[in-house]
Amino acid sequence: MGRVGIVTGGARGIGAAITSLLAEDGASVVVMGLPPDRERTEALRASLNGAAKRVHFREGNVAHYDVCKGIADEVRAQYGQIDFLVNNAGITADHTIRNMTVEEWQAVLAVNLSGPFFMTKAVLEHMVERNYGRIVNISSVVGHTGNFGQANYASAKAGVMGLTKTVALEVASRGITVNAVAPGFINTDMVAAMPKAAVEAAIQKSPERRLGQPEEVARVVRFLLDESSGYITGAVYDVNGGLYM
Ligand code: NAI
Repeated sequence: MGRVGIVTGGARGIGAAITSLLAEDGASVVVMGLPPDRERTEALRASLNGAAKRVHFREGNVAHYDVCKGIADEVRAQYGQIDFLVNNAGITADHTIRNMTVEEWQAVLAVNLSGPFFMTKAVLEHMVERNYGRIVNISSVVGHTGNFGQANYASAKAGVMGLTKTVALEVASRGITVNAVAPGFINTDMVAAMPKAAVEAAIQKSPERRLGQPEEVARVVRFLLDESSGYITGAVYDVNGGLYM
């Protein structure tokens, strides 16, 4: 059997590009997502031709540890192995800190930071037992820079970098690599939901004067998940068109 792994939020945007590349490479990909992601996964499968049979959907919210553990155990039981995990699911709830509610803070931290911790914890013992694993966490350029109106999101994404480096250290001797990818502004529904002026400002600030494409992020994730990338761990790969250097 080929490689098997989980991509959270793998049904749309950056996650869908990751799922597609991995499935086309021959990996079996379990897309973990919220209820609307079931239909999106079907649409993604329909675009994949031969690789469609290697893409499966499991409904689950990464903000709950028991759900994460349940899905990881199920995947392991069904396929016998989990070779990779991509912590990609993420949300925004933007407001300046003066207007940000405690609920908005907690919701973004729960999905964007606790989610990667829960999923990592849910797969890690299995990877340690096998002496092999590849984990990639999707952070963000704003984890480096901060961003107006995104105290919750930027804190979570900076936290993801700390989580990445710490887990990388702890399991480096067990054949497991843990890396982060920090995209700039990428052309997905998440960015489409931003105010037009904010998107235009981000484009103007970017040396390449454009948004990135989901596939440009996915290609880096694919590289980091490769078996031959075993000497890369604890790294943060920027994919931002020069927005932050
Ligand atoms: P998106 O909003 O298009 O897709 C996110 C996916 O995650 C959706 O399928 C959604 O249903 C799923 N999801 C959300 N909450 C979930 C939960 N609690 N449990 C399980 N699944 C959940 O987002 P996009 O733009 O593709 O972003 C993907 C990742 O990349 C996110 O972590 C985001 O923060 C990060 N990112 C995105 C950038 C961008 O410009 N689009 C820039 C930098 C980072």
